[in-house]
Amino acid sequence: AQANIGVVGLAVMGSNLARNLASREGNTVAVYNRSPQKTRDLVAAQPEARFVASETIEDFAASLSAPRTAIIMVKAGAGTDAVIDQLVAVFEPGDIIVDGGNALFTDTIRREKAVRETGINFVGAGISGGEEGALLGPSIMPGGSAEAWETLGPILRSIAAVVDGEPCVTHVGTDGAGHFVKMIHNGIEYADMQLIAEAYDLIRRGTGKSPAEIADVFTEWNKGELESYLIEITAEVLRQTDMRTGKPLVDVIVDQAGAKGTGAWTVQTALDLGIPVSGIAEAVFARSLSSKPAQRAAASDLPGPTTPWQVKDADAFVEDVRLALYASKIIAYSQGFDEIIAGAEEYGWDIKKGEIAKIWRGGCIIRAQFLNRITEAYAADPGLVALVTAPYFRDAVAAAQDSWRRVVVAAAQAGIPSPAFSSSLAYYDGLRADRLPAALVQGQRDFFGAHTYKRVDAPGTFHTLWSGDRSEVETTDTH
Ligand code: 6PG
Repeated sequence: AQANIGVVGLAVMGSNLARNLASREGNTVAVYNRSPQKTRDLVAAQPEARFVASETIEDFAASLSAPRTAIIMVKAGAGTDAVIDQLVAVFEPGDIIVDGGNALFTDTIRREKAVRETGINFVGAGISGGEEGALLGPSIMPGGSAEAWETLGPILRSIAAVVDGEPCVTHVGTDGAGHFVKMIHNGIEYADMQLIAEAYDLIRRGTGKSPAEIADVFTEWNKGELESYLIEITAEVLRQTDMRTGKPLVDVIVDQAGAKGTGAWTVQTALDLGIPVSGIAEAVFARSLSSKPAQRAAASDLPGPTTPWQVKDADAFVEDVRLALYASKIIAYSQGFDEIIAGAEEYGWDIKKGEIAKIWRGGCIIRAQFLNRITEAYAADPGLVALVTAPYFRDAVAAAQDSWRRVVVAAAQAGIPSPAFSSSLAYYDGLRADRLPAALVQGQRDFFGAHTYKRVDAPGTFHTLWSGDRSEVETTDTH
């Protein structure tokens, strides 16, 4: 036994993580892949690295010192279960199996429970940052038991991204908490990306600026409160010229966005929890809509606005879009944290919201300065009921709202789809409303289904005898 940590699954993410681990003082990394060629390639590429390569799972287990700790980096799904079974067969009680893939958190809960029966620890850990993050320092969101975290913590701390001297990793909570939080991270990532895409589209169609000019706008925005990895890479993508045609690359990429499912999970879970993550949902749906070429072709001659739309002051419009983006982004994060709070309550996790915002400051795809503000908001008020109501965010949204409204109006007038901008604004207005037409919905429900309603002026539950004399009766039935 010579290695203190192992990696199973040596595709790009796995081999980069193994290289990251091996580059840190004190680590010797056991590596294993189903097809041995990948293992040989990894070792051959870096003969000086502290790898211990195995071609069987038995040798892999034997090369690890106790408690054996192995990180699985395979495509989420049935393959993960197969590798877990293999490891369980060769590991011993007290050892630790970590799943570093993008697993669905309910799968992680199931696996943790099953593996725990054997006395082996199972930890689902969300790892964000793509290929580069895996190699240089990702943001890591581990769940699992406190006992497993004791051993795993120092190892994960050694490879995570570092911001202000603090590694971007924390013990998120037990069993599936880590993968749950990674799922929310991805949902927010979808919303962030869609909002940036809408901002680009509005500026392009509103001002006629070229992609390269819009790249400059994003570079400028990246110096202010919108500073983030996604804004930075957006500028890079917009500045890219296609090698074949000389056109902006963005103009030759097919406009149908793919998805591997984590955004959809965030929304499905939110629906189950009853949490309105409308910005994230619109981002997921916008990708689905884009990927329906037959419907889009059939609808392409449907009429648009009859009055032409013109931006009078391009600079002022760009500034409006910037503020609309910032306000909508605040809503997306506020909704994402609402889902974390609801998930924690439903599944019994003690998730520290401020810590989550902290570990998202570096390494991950949604990394941004702005996350410090979220940490501060939860530090000032751990029981904060909605992030958007914290003083900093309240002020930011108040300062942005006139711009936000102008942008949503302009988009509607121009016939430019801006589902994430407009749904975020609708959510904001819904949340702050004195009275909502939900009262009427309750009346309708009572009319056709005797679903009952409550009154503003008296306790109890009531039903109007709609098909009788329309008097009101108090009832104990609630439908
Ligand atoms: C990350 C990313 C990563 C992956 C997404 C992409 O945090 O490093 O979120 O997990 O790139 O799953 O998701 P889509 O393919 O669904 O856009």
